[in-house]
Amino acid sequence: MKVVENIIKENIFTKERIIDLLKADTEQSKYIFEEAARIKSIYIGNKVHLRGLIELTNKCSKNCFYCGIAVSNHNVNRYCVSLGEVEKAIKFIDRNNYGSIVIQSGELQSEEFISYIEKILHKIVELSWGRLGVTLSCGEQSEETYQRWKEAGAHRYLLRIETSNEKHYYKLHPKNAKHNFHKRLKSLEYLKKCGYQTGTGVMIASPFQTIENLAEDLLFMKHIDIDMCGMGPYIEHEDSPLFNSKESFYNTTEKIQLSLKMIALLRIIMKDINIAATTAMQTLATGGREMALKAGANILMPNVTPGKYREQYELYKNKPGLDEEAEDSKISMEKIISKANSIPAYGEKGNSNHFKNRMKSSYIY
Ligand code: 5AD
Repeated sequence: MKVVENIIKENIFTKERIIDLLKADTEQSKYIFEEAARIKSIYIGNKVHLRGLIELTNKCSKNCFYCGIAVSNHNVNRYCVSLGEVEKAIKFIDRNNYGSIVIQSGELQSEEFISYIEKILHKIVELSWGRLGVTLSCGEQSEETYQRWKEAGAHRYLLRIETSNEKHYYKLHPKNAKHNFHKRLKSLEYLKKCGYQTGTGVMIASPFQTIENLAEDLLFMKHIDIDMCGMGPYIEHEDSPLFNSKESFYNTTEKIQLSLKMIALLRIIMKDINIAATTAMQTLATGGREMALKAGANILMPNVTPGKYREQYELYKNKPGLDEEAEDSKISMEKIISKANSIPAYGEKGNSNHFKNRMKSSYIY
């Protein structure tokens, strides 16, 4: 216990010290969670900011070894939400005062896709009169595309690095022109350069991953100075090459504990960033997102994708909310927030405090 307490009090987070914290047992972990909650209450408060999530399309050009919507999985019916349906979802989000919208999709780089996103961004601005914060999560793109989308109204972008260790990256992805670790890093650089509130994240307890890798991931996020993070546990998908991998080292309880520790440590290390309580947490444990909020997360993303498409956006098995419509997801979300002794921040965009502070300190007087 003393060791964990001392490391946190000294506030120096080297790789070795983070490894010790990630290895903390249940008793010692309590201290980590309490400290994360304390820091969250100072830098964030007890509000949970909401982002209505549209899973726009499961069409994807990539072949990630863990993902259920990889291009080579022919058991998936591919869909794309129509502009009319997207408009309905935008109106739902605005009417219900969620404050922000997230458009998430598979990775596509065609001009058709790029201009469809642009059209949607214009619609969001038009329909909500600029009231909504806008996050995109549509994968690697050229700097020009990121710029185009920024000009059309997006101002936050989430691109998970998945793992910050290059060798590990190629155990989770094929090594070819489409899947290139350095290209992914470069994309994160472009996003920052374009002025987005930039987010990344990793899968926790993925095959071949070591505790050392996870410590490196936290330091990576600190090093590139992210504004937001979305990370959650790896969950097997039966149609993916890594299904039943002998290199997955954790059982469900360990995955949850490790994910909660990652969230709490990121909150302790980065203090004022936005951290999402992800759906994958809920998949592994009832109350998973509520636990994530208690451990330091401050963002929830209620799903507003039309119900008929939800089953097709199955990145991993047993994803919750597949039988829900937007209204049901709202009710589930309010329950989660109240169980985490927090309040929903209706009507607020919930921009990253870290981004605001970053901008303030970069003013030249
Ligand atoms: N388990 C957990 N997360 C996954 N993702 C994709 N497949 C899985 C899986 N099997 C995550 C990736 C991706 C995000 C959209 O979903 O981190 O960036």
